[in-house]
Amino acid sequence: MPGLIPEPVLEQIRQNNDVVEVIGSYFPLKRAGANFRALCPFHKEKTPSFNVNPSKQIWHCFGCGEGGNVFTFVMKYENLDFLAAVRRLAERAGIKLEYEERAGDPGRDQKEQLLTLHEVAANFFHHNLMKEPSAAVARDYLKKRKIPAETAKKWRLGYSPDAWDGLIQHAATKKFSPELLAAAGLALERERGDGFYDRFRGRLMFPICDEQGRAVGFSGRILTDAKDQPKYVNSPETPIFQKGRILFALDKAKRAILDEKYAIVCEGQVDTISCHEAGVENVVAPQGTALTEQHARILKRYAEEVVLMFDADAAGQNAIVRSAEPLWDAGVVIRVAVLPAGHDPDSFVKAFGAEKLKELVTKAPSFFLYLLDRLSQQHDPRTERGKLQIARQMAEWLARIPTPILLATYAQQTAKRLDIGEDVLRKEVTKLTGRRRDRSGMTGGDDEADDTADFDEERPRGLPAEEMLLRTMLADERVIEMAAERLDLAWLSNSLAGQTIQDVLRLYNGRNWIGPNSLLNQPQNDQTSRLVSELLLNQQTVKQPEVAAADCLATLEQRWVKQRLSELRRQLEQPGLSAADSAPLHQQLLDLLSKLQHIATFLKGKP
Ligand code: UTP
Ligand code: MN
Repeated sequence: MPGLIPEPVLEQIRQNNDVVEVIGSYFPLKRAGANFRALCPFHKEKTPSFNVNPSKQIWHCFGCGEGGNVFTFVMKYENLDFLAAVRRLAERAGIKLEYEERAGDPGRDQKEQLLTLHEVAANFFHHNLMKEPSAAVARDYLKKRKIPAETAKKWRLGYSPDAWDGLIQHAATKKFSPELLAAAGLALERERGDGFYDRFRGRLMFPICDEQGRAVGFSGRILTDAKDQPKYVNSPETPIFQKGRILFALDKAKRAILDEKYAIVCEGQVDTISCHEAGVENVVAPQGTALTEQHARILKRYAEEVVLMFDADAAGQNAIVRSAEPLWDAGVVIRVAVLPAGHDPDSFVKAFGAEKLKELVTKAPSFFLYLLDRLSQQHDPRTERGKLQIARQMAEWLARIPTPILLATYAQQTAKRLDIGEDVLRKEVTKLTGRRRDRSGMTGGDDEADDTADFDEERPRGLPAEEMLLRTMLADERVIEMAAERLDLAWLSNSLAGQTIQDVLRLYNGRNWIGPNSLLNQPQNDQTSRLVSELLLNQQTVKQPEVAAADCLATLEQRWVKQRLSELRRQLEQPGLSAADSAPLHQQLLDLLSKLQHIATFLKGKP
């Protein structure tokens, strides 16, 4: 990804988007000394620890550790990938990304057109519903379902005229061709191929939005009891609408999901809207299908826990297991809110009120227990055969958990419930895990790299001397020069700080160092971003950076020398070492000892 936009262009975009202005356009910032401060948007807190520094053009939260520059912020806040964030900020600053035109991405042009067309269509349907006499049937229906006009406005509900070309005609006045409408899934070609007709006719329209709140598709509910028509007609898959990736209402729910630390997933649009309107706003829904692996991944970006709230009927119960699978595989904690028979979330909240709904959600038992209960109903755990069946099936589920802690908890509880030894169960699980690994190894990798990024977290932060050295390098370019001359990369540990020092030197030696933003403009590594913004924003300023850095260099060298010495001693102790072999080793040993002496004197000479 880096390299696609040249660094100078990135810098130009960054410099034209003041970090305080950009962040301040999302929520208010308060001046606090050299920084601006606010409640952190990325974790829940009562006192502000989210800082924005205008002179360094960075932000950092001392509560959750998130941080970076303006690109990182827009990426995180809007949940965009790097390119989308850059594009957004380029647009904001009125900078044209020429490379894109040259690279000629016809797909992108079409996507933009489809988005604009959806905007036009959503407004058209919405205007109909609110104002047109012909939409009385839809307004009556809303009344019947206790959906007030305000709600219709907030969700931009609409009405598609009961005609063959209502939208086609309207779009034509805005110069959109029927062919484009067909590509958008809003129109269909007549069988004889002599024209197009509207896909949505005489229906209550629900715009389906992406995470940024842009309409990318529609779902249209029938308003009559015609039995020969489907209850809902949905947009087909288009370049901007992939059902496996879109969650209805996520744009409106994401803040609440972060606050509540869990998401509620229900089945339908109406259910979702009713929950939101009842004050439960961390609710989303897939597109009338089970959750997919991508849905799970998207949800996991916001929360580690998901509550499934499906109908009580058999279909709903099966949907629970199907939807739980991808979440389970992603290591998400799952709970199940079971509604009383005959109810869906919409009817439940209308019958019993918001408080009862909240109670149902808070008390929702874990999916793990739900599963264990379900299996215990299917197979009698008091018989040996039943026990074996349950244990086998549970082992299958357990083998798929990627999180050791969850696995341990669940294995323990399963063993206890079945009254079998935990070690026996664990053995079964390990057997299955091995098999799964082999299989997944053959089928190859994942389509997205974001999972592997998590492994970076395993890397330790770094030695204190590395952190201090990095801090002084970021503060003062003379220190970078000094480190470039005197630091041996072998002295660095395999840590985040060590790696970042190497990155700085690489950029500096390649004449690509333009300040700390050279690191922050490469957003593929979240951890670096956090560390760099923290070191930059941390209040303690280093009085004499070069002096401090010299100390750090000495400390790092000392550590390395000591390691080398013990290695040499081990080599020298090996039996059967010839004199010819040991002589040079001895020499090295002496050199290192005298070096160590030097370093010790240098470090001792310090105040
Ligand atoms: P439901 O049949 O449970 O409808 O379908 P609902 O959400 O309760 O709607 P109301 O209350 O009767 O108005 C749940 C979801 O399944 C999808 C839709 O996304 C719907 O919201 N669905 C249902 C379809 O896609 N097509 C259908 O024909 C029916
Ligand atoms: Mn319903």
